[in-house]
Amino acid sequence: MPSEYQGKVVLVTGGSYGIGRAAAIGFARRGAKVVIADIDVKRGEETLHRVKDAGGDAIFVKTDVSSEADVEALVNKAVWTYGKLDCAFNNAGIHKQFVSIVDFTAKDWDEMINVNLKSVWLCMKYEIRQMLKQGKGSIVNTSSAAGLVGAPSNPAYPASKHGVVGITKSTALEFARKGIRVNCVCPGPTRTGMNEELTATNPEIVKAMDQKVPMGRIGEPEEVAAAAIFLCSDEASYITGHALPVDGGIVAD
Ligand SMILES: NC(=O)c1ccc[n+]([C@@H]2O[C@H](COP(=O)([O-])OP(=O)(O)OC[C@H]3O[C@@H](n4cnc5c(N)ncnc54)[C@H](O)[C@@H]3O)[C@@H](O)[C@H]2O)c1
Repeated sequence: MPSEYQGKVVLVTGGSYGIGRAAAIGFARRGAKVVIADIDVKRGEETLHRVKDAGGDAIFVKTDVSSEADVEALVNKAVWTYGKLDCAFNNAGIHKQFVSIVDFTAKDWDEMINVNLKSVWLCMKYEIRQMLKQGKGSIVNTSSAAGLVGAPSNPAYPASKHGVVGITKSTALEFARKGIRVNCVCPGPTRTGMNEELTATNPEIVKAMDQKVPMGRIGEPEEVAAAAIFLCSDEASYITGHALPVDGGIVAD
C-alpha cells in the first residue's frame, strides 16, 4: 500500500459525500489520519465506515463550514485527537440550478456565498494558525471551472468560486515564505451528490453535459480527489497559488 501520507493528519470538509468522500478514502489509503468534516452526519458516518473498512484511521466531526464557532472547534478537535494538522482539503460546497440574476434572492445569495466562500476563509484562518505553529502545511480548496470562466448558473455560484481562486492565490502569496502552500482544484461537471438527482432523472442532461466536455464525459469524484491528493502532497512541494482545472478540457476550449 502506498504510504506517502504515513504519519500525516489531513482534514477534509464536505467529506460525507462526492469528491470529499473520495478524497477521505484516498488520503486514508495512502496512510493519512483523516478528519472528516461535514454537516451531513448520516453520510459522514458511512464515509467513516468506508475509511475504516479500507484499514484507515479517521474521525467524523459534524461541522457547518459557514459557522466560525464550528470551524474553530473542528480544527481544535483535529489537533486534540491527532496532535497536529498537516494538510487540509477545504471542499464543502453547494450549488443551485440556473436562476437569472434578475430573479435571484438575497437569501440564496447569502447562503451560497457563506457556504462556498466564507467557509474557505474561515477554514484557512484556523488551519493556518495551527500550521504556523508547526512551520509547515499544505491546503487545497475546491473552486470550479465556474471559478475560472463564466458559466450558465445562478449569479452566486460562479461569484463564490471565482472568490475561492482569489483567496487561494492571495493566501498562497502571504504564506509562501512560511512553509505553507495553498492551491485549489477547479472541477468540471463531476458525478456527485450535487448533480445526482438531475442526472438520475434526466438522461438528456447527462448527454448534454458529456457533449460540453472536450473529453466527451463527465468526471468521477475520484479523479478530482486524485488532483487534490497530489497538490496536498510533498510531490507538489514547489507548487503554490495554482488553480488546477480538473475538467476534461472545458476551460481549455
Ligand atoms: N459536482 C460537480 O459537478 C462540481 C463541479 C465543480 C465544483 N464542484 C465543487 O466540489 C465541491 C464538492 O461538491 P461535490 O460535487 O462532491 O458535491 P456533494 O453534494 O456530493 O458533496 C458536497 C458535500 O458538502 C457538504 N456540505 C454542504 N454544505 C455544508 C456545510 N454548510 N457545512 C459542511 N458541509 C457541507 C454536503 O453535505 C456534502 O457532503 C463543492 O465545493 C462543489 O462546489 C463540484
